[in-house]
Amino acid sequence: MSDRVAIVGATGALGFGLAVRLAATGMPVAMGSRSPERAEEAAGKARAAVPDAECTAVVNQDAVRDADIVFLCVPFRNQSENLTNLKDHLREGQILVDATVPLAAAVGGRATRTLGVWQGSAAQQAAEMVPEGVRVVGALHTVGAPKLGDLAEALDEDVLVCGDKRADKRRVAAILDRIPGLRCVDAGRLEQARTIEQMTALMISINARYKVHGGVRIVGLPKELWPPPSSS
Ligand SMILES: NC(=O)c1ccc[n+]([C@@H]2O[C@H](COP(=O)([O-])OP(=O)(O)OC[C@H]3O[C@@H](n4cnc5c(N)ncnc54)[C@H](OP(=O)(O)O)[C@@H]3O)[C@@H](O)[C@H]2O)c1
Repeated sequence: MSDRVAIVGATGALGFGLAVRLAATGMPVAMGSRSPERAEEAAGKARAAVPDAECTAVVNQDAVRDADIVFLCVPFRNQSENLTNLKDHLREGQILVDATVPLAAAVGGRATRTLGVWQGSAAQQAAEMVPEGVRVVGALHTVGAPKLGDLAEALDEDVLVCGDKRADKRRVAAILDRIPGLRCVDAGRLEQARTIEQMTALMISINARYKVHGGVRIVGLPKELWPPPSSS
């Protein structure tokens, strides 16, 4: 049986884009929001974009409870608040996929700069906050929401996936690799999120200069990426 997917923050740019792309592959998605009305509105929009989409509108707590893999797609300034609210609903064995980027914009700074996070990265902060037995994987940081959310746009980029357990990364990759044009690359342990999150600020800077929604592509990799010959 395939993993059940929930998205916390599915009303936002990244969460919505992920929801429609997964729905377009035929995957059922629980679209979470803090508000049932906003969840319903986003699920309606997803069904309009993908007529046979199996998107359910749920409040975040309910979305999380029934999922195997939870994508956390909320702004950095609200990451800890959201994880606190979900603490009693996340359970052992689940994977939380963190896409949070600690952009300086969260405190009125530039989107081309990041904030220091004591734990090393937003993903590591999430790992410290989730209940015991919930494992964190980092992914999607460099995938731009504008392209992801527009099914008319062809994707052609890599998703850098980091995490401390090989099997977890593989499960997350199995979901994201369903989306045509995305290719998941094992970027190493969760601590690599520290570098990957910085890459988003770099991509924002490059994209602003060229007025594009470019992504990241790693060259020179083998055809078969999962599992890598040696990994952790
Ligand atoms: N946008 C991109 O291209 C992109 C790419 C890669 C990574 N990311 C990262 O992904 C995360 C989400 O980015 P985004 O652009 O999708 O953000 P966004 O559109 O501003 O917001 C995403 C969602 O967060 C939810 N949220 C939860 N608590 C909130 C609060 N207290 N205040 C406001 N919103 C709250 C909101 O959903 P409800 O109000 O329905 O609960 C909102 O729709 C960020 O950490 C960002 O750095 C973004």
